Amino acid sequence: MNLFNVYPLFNINPVKAQGSFLWDDKGEKYLDFYGGHAVISIGHNHPHYQNKLKEQLEKISFYSNSVQNELQAELAEKLGGISGYEDYNLFLCNSGAEANENALKLASFHNGKTKVLYFSGSFHGRTSAAVSVTDNPKIVAPVNFSERFIKSEWNDIKQLEEIFEGQGSEISSVIIEGIQGVGGIMIPTEEFLSKIKELCEKYNAVLILDEVQSGYGRSGYFFAHQEFEIKPDIITTAKGMGNGFPIGGVLIHPKFEASNGLLGTTFGGNHLACAAAIAVLDVMKEEKLMDNAQQMGDYIENEIKDFPHIKSIRRKGLMIGIELDQDCSEVRKSLLYDHHIFTGNSNDKSVLRVLPALNIGKEETDLFVGALKVVLDKI
Ligand SMILES: Cc1ncc(COP(=O)(O)O)c(C=O)c1O
Repeated sequence: MNLFNVYPLFNINPVKAQGSFLWDDKGEKYLDFYGGHAVISIGHNHPHYQNKLKEQLEKISFYSNSVQNELQAELAEKLGGISGYEDYNLFLCNSGAEANENALKLASFHNGKTKVLYFSGSFHGRTSAAVSVTDNPKIVAPVNFSERFIKSEWNDIKQLEEIFEGQGSEISSVIIEGIQGVGGIMIPTEEFLSKIKELCEKYNAVLILDEVQSGYGRSGYFFAHQEFEIKPDIITTAKGMGNGFPIGGVLIHPKFEASNGLLGTTFGGNHLACAAAIAVLDVMKEEKLMDNAQQMGDYIENEIKDFPHIKSIRRKGLMIGIELDQDCSEVRKSLLYDHHIFTGNSNDKSVLRVLPALNIGKEETDLFVGALKVVLDKI
C-alpha cells in the first residue's frame, strides 16, 4: 500500500531528537526552530515528559470516557491554574480542528443560531465546520461550503459592525485566532478584539478564541489574547499542549450547560494524552517558560531587526513572523539545507515563520541568528 500523497516532503528522515535538535538517519544534526508546526513547546524528549509517559505506559495507556479518569481532573486543575481560567470547564479531544469543531457546535447548541463569522487569513483546521471558517478555498470541499459561514476582513471594525447590523440575530459565534499563524503571524489589535467582544455580547453570539497555535505560553502569555482585558466565551487549544502527543482542549465558560452526550470522543483525554499534557504544564511552570518565551523573543528580534531584506517583524513572545522584501522560500531552503535549521512558511509567501521550543536557550538562538545573517547577506 502506498501513502496517500498529500504532503510535499523535505528529503530528511529524523530518527532522534533532544531539546531543540534533531538527528537524521545519516547522523546529521538539525536545529529545530519550527517545532513541527508549533507543536514542540518544552523541547523534544524532555526528561520529565519522558518519565511521565513511561510511568503511565506501565500503568494504563487507555480506557474510554465511560469510566473515571483522575488524570483528566489533574490536567483540568493545572490548566485552570496556569491559564487563570479556573472557573471554566474543560472538554478534551485530540486535535486543533476537533477542538474548534466542538467549540462551534457548542456555541450553536447554546444559542440555537446557525451562522458563524470568521476572518480573512484564518486557519482553523480541516474538519467540517473548522474548514468552513478557514480562509483557503483550496481546502474547502463542496460538501463543506455553506453561506452560513461569513468572512469579514481582519482588523476591519467597520465591516464587522455592518455584518452584525445586518445579520447579528442569526450569528451564533465569531471565531478568531489569538494570533493568526498560517495567515502569516497577524496580530489582532486590542480595539478589534474589544469590538468583537462587545458585538458578541450585544447580539448574543459566542466569542471563540482559537489559541491552538498561539496558546500554551508561545506568546509570552499563557494565551495570546491575555495581553488584553478580553475574556472569550470559549478558548480552543492543541499543538503545544501535548508537546507532540495528540491532544486538544476546549475551555468553556460556566454559562454553557453540559448534558450527557452533548459532546463526545473515543480517544479524547485518554490516560497517555493526559500524562503528556500534565508533564508539559509541570515543565512550563517549573522552568518559567512563558518568561523565557518573552525574553528570547525580545532577544531574537533585537538581534535580527537590522538585517538586510527584513521589511518587518511581527511577533509576540516566540511566535515570530519575519516579513522579507521577497518570497521567503529560498531563504527557508538555504537555512535547512546549508545550515540545518528548520523554519516555517505561511500563506503570506514573504513571511518566514519561526516557532522554536519555549525553552530555547541563547546558544541555539545564536545559531539561528548567525545563519539567518549569512543567508540574507548573500541575497
Ligand atoms: C490556529 C489553528 N487552529 C487550528 C489548527 C488545526 O489544528 P490540527 O492540525 O491539530 O487539527 C491549526 C493548525 O495549524 C491552527 O494553526
